[in-house]
Amino acid sequence: MIPSLRTWFRRFGKTNPPHREGQPKVLITGGLGFIFSHVTEYFVAKGWNVVVIDNLSEGSNPQIIDGSFMHHHFHMADPKVIDLIVKEEPDYVIHAAAISDVDYSVREPRRTLEKNIRGNLHAFEACRQLPNLKKFVYVSTDEVYGECEYKKKEGEMMNPKNPYSCSKAVGSLMRISYDNTYDSLKGKTAETRFCNVFGPRQDSAKITSAIKRSMDEGYSIPLHQEGKGYREYIYVKNIPPAIELILERGQGIYNMTLNDGFTVSELVKKAEEVTGRTVTTHPSERPGMDLKYQMDSTRIRELGWNPVYTFEEGLKEYLCDE
Ligand SMILES: NC(=O)c1ccc[n+]([C@@H]2O[C@H](COP(=O)([O-])OP(=O)(O)OC[C@H]3O[C@@H](n4cnc5c(N)ncnc54)[C@H](O)[C@@H]3O)[C@@H](O)[C@H]2O)c1
Repeated sequence: MIPSLRTWFRRFGKTNPPHREGQPKVLITGGLGFIFSHVTEYFVAKGWNVVVIDNLSEGSNPQIIDGSFMHHHFHMADPKVIDLIVKEEPDYVIHAAAISDVDYSVREPRRTLEKNIRGNLHAFEACRQLPNLKKFVYVSTDEVYGECEYKKKEGEMMNPKNPYSCSKAVGSLMRISYDNTYDSLKGKTAETRFCNVFGPRQDSAKITSAIKRSMDEGYSIPLHQEGKGYREYIYVKNIPPAIELILERGQGIYNMTLNDGFTVSELVKKAEEVTGRTVTTHPSERPGMDLKYQMDSTRIRELGWNPVYTFEEGLKEYLCDE
């Protein structure tokens, strides 16, 4: 049987889309994952030349590979990736590839730290060899702050409390030092710290997609620390335009949140209200878990960020329409 075009692209892990003359080239690591698959599709739709480096591991969405962007099936922890990135000569680099599962990182700290930190190092090493690079965006998380008794600002001390957030914080420190040291990167780096992102394609263990699964399939959600964990939430479709804004005009760190914060128990109630459906939960414990993350988002708003979806609109679309 002749394989379909999509199957062929997936099997060979590399595609050669037509070069779009005069359009920018953006290289996205982890561009098949939950959040950045939306970013990949956004830039493809804008007509940009998009190159994705993704090793098709946990969280990846190979079903979006359709020949409209270049995909390199490559591990960011492999030092050969440096030459690959340098040869691509992108105008912009977004480094999002990472093991992003906190529970996995607690079980496998060595693997998480080794792979994520090597991946970060190789991304920075490649970018310092790109004299014409316009912007390098390192993707990080609110978790680098550790427990947040108040809304944390970008300049505050990092205090990561689990192996995953530690690996992300290492990349944050690398960004400062590479930007400060190498002329090729001076003033050209930025970092995003997202709050909890939710929406289509999210891993089914994450809270909002677990809520959807519970409603659709009767799955019982493990409610860590009695559902007291407080997080801010943002709909994934707000992310691509924010990333574009940062590529165009951003410099330094940007907390990305609309300050829609709830405990997990409150989030479950909200989801039940929006849909009129029931969510099932059972008690659970998670070691190394911070109880509260909250951030100040003045900096990204002053850059001109106008989110397209409110939290309620995003939640409704995700739980009812998707
Ligand atoms: N999901 C959230 O709420 C959230 C919040 C804050 C920050 N972040 C950050 O955003 C980024 C994306 O998160 P996500 O939830 O979309 O993750 P995800 O797990 O859904 O996707 C990660 C993608 O990266 C790829 N990948 C992982 N390690 C790789 C490696 N070493 N080499 C090549 N590819 C690799 C995977 O195959 C996958 O496609 C991560 O850097 C994460 O730390 C996510």
